[in-house]
Amino acid sequence: MTQRGKQHTRSRYDLIAPLYNVLEWPIEQLLFKSWRKQLWDQITGPNVLEIGVGTGKNISYYPEDIEVTGIDLSPGMLKQAKQRLTEKQEVHLTLKEMDAQQMDFSDDTFDDVVATFVFCSVPDPILGLKEALRVTKPGGKLHLLEHMRADGTALASAMDKLDNPIHYLSGVHIARRTVSNVKSAGWDIENVHDLTSGGIVKKIKAIKPH
Ligand SMILES: C[S@@+](CC[C@H](N)C(=O)[O-])C[C@H]1O[C@@H](n2cnc3c(N)ncnc32)[C@H](O)[C@@H]1O
Repeated sequence: MTQRGKQHTRSRYDLIAPLYNVLEWPIEQLLFKSWRKQLWDQITGPNVLEIGVGTGKNISYYPEDIEVTGIDLSPGMLKQAKQRLTEKQEVHLTLKEMDAQQMDFSDDTFDDVVATFVFCSVPDPILGLKEALRVTKPGGKLHLLEHMRADGTALASAMDKLDNPIHYLSGVHIARRTVSNVKSAGWDIENVHDLTSGGIVKKIKAIKPH
């Protein structure tokens, strides 16, 4: 893991943080909202880790009776999440600045680990997914909403070509092979749902083997 990669991601999100919710508002209304609801309806916890909590967009979808620890690399994004949290007194969320690639939690801590649109920007995604596995209890679940490299070859090769420039500008990789990254990190895939055509956005559920 390079320090430079981490700083690049952090600086891009710190920069965009004040505008993030406004820029994403249209797609949030159109698509993300219903996907978030689908994902969080499956979470029972009670001890939940949200990786890359960002501006706290998932807070509204947390089920009652769960305790969430939300981590993020970007202080700018966390500042927005803290603001949102002050409006949601009933939510049990602890926010921490932390790198998903090197987490400050003991092994086997969480029942569920959740990340939405995060492993496109974690510098070393397999390392982050291995860390997620380490801190999850055996039999615990990983729940992801992620965009990734398309299934079709023409679109996928265009994504491969654009991946570097887009990453430089935004900190985001558009051509990650996230399903295979999850497997490579040691998770057992339970199911994968395509949410868009071309397999670009998927909901992934995986389990930590006993
Ligand atoms: C596209 S945003 C998504 C935010 C939020 N999950 C959502 O659904 O709106 C990606 C977030 O992942 C965070 N992130 C990227 N790499 C990270 C890492 N290594 N550790 C922790 N957070 C990271 C970024 O700072 C950013 O807040």
